Amino acid sequence: MFSILLLPLLAFGVICSPIPLTETTALKPYQLRGVQSPIFHLYLQSLPTSKSTPVMGPESSSEYFNLGSTIQSLNSSLYLNIGNKVDGKSYLPLSFGTSSNTTAWALEGDTVITATTSSYGRREY
Ligand SMILES: *[C@@H]1O[C@H](CO)[C@@H](O)[C@H](O)[C@H]1NC(C)=O
Ligand SMILES: *[C@@H]1O[C@H](CO)[C@@H](O)[C@H](O)[C@H]1NC(C)=O
Repeated sequence: MFSILLLPLLAFGVICSPIPLTETTALKPYQLRGVQSPIFHLYLQSLPTSKSTPVMGPESSSEYFNLGSTIQSLNSSLYLNIGNKVDGKSYLPLSFGTSSNTTAWALEGDTVITATTSSYGRREY
């Protein structure tokens, strides 16, 4: 089994204030929440001591994200990227970077997936 997200993340809308966007598609800010043990109801955010490291943590320090074909934190402006395969590992690492090199994200219902049409395809977890 090969998974990009170690565990499924559930995106849900939050009350949003208007954000200027140059895109024609308006994006809502979302929190990304784990829906399975051991990250059940933990929220995606960067490690305070290493902003490029995504972790699942408490809601009180949750970050908010624009979701489209990229995932960008409104808090840090960093993009969630999928890294290259590491030898001996069955998953791909995630990191936050100043530019997006991953445009494979999509929503299926309220669940974040990699788009079927992307090079990653649709992954099961
Ligand atoms: C992220 O931004 C939201 C909205 O401004 C804020 O409520 C939240 O506290 C911020 N999170 C962090 C970790 O700064
Ligand atoms: C994508 O960006 C990340 C930083 O978020 C970096 O670690 C990774 O090497 C980049 N991948 C490619 C293919 O450029």
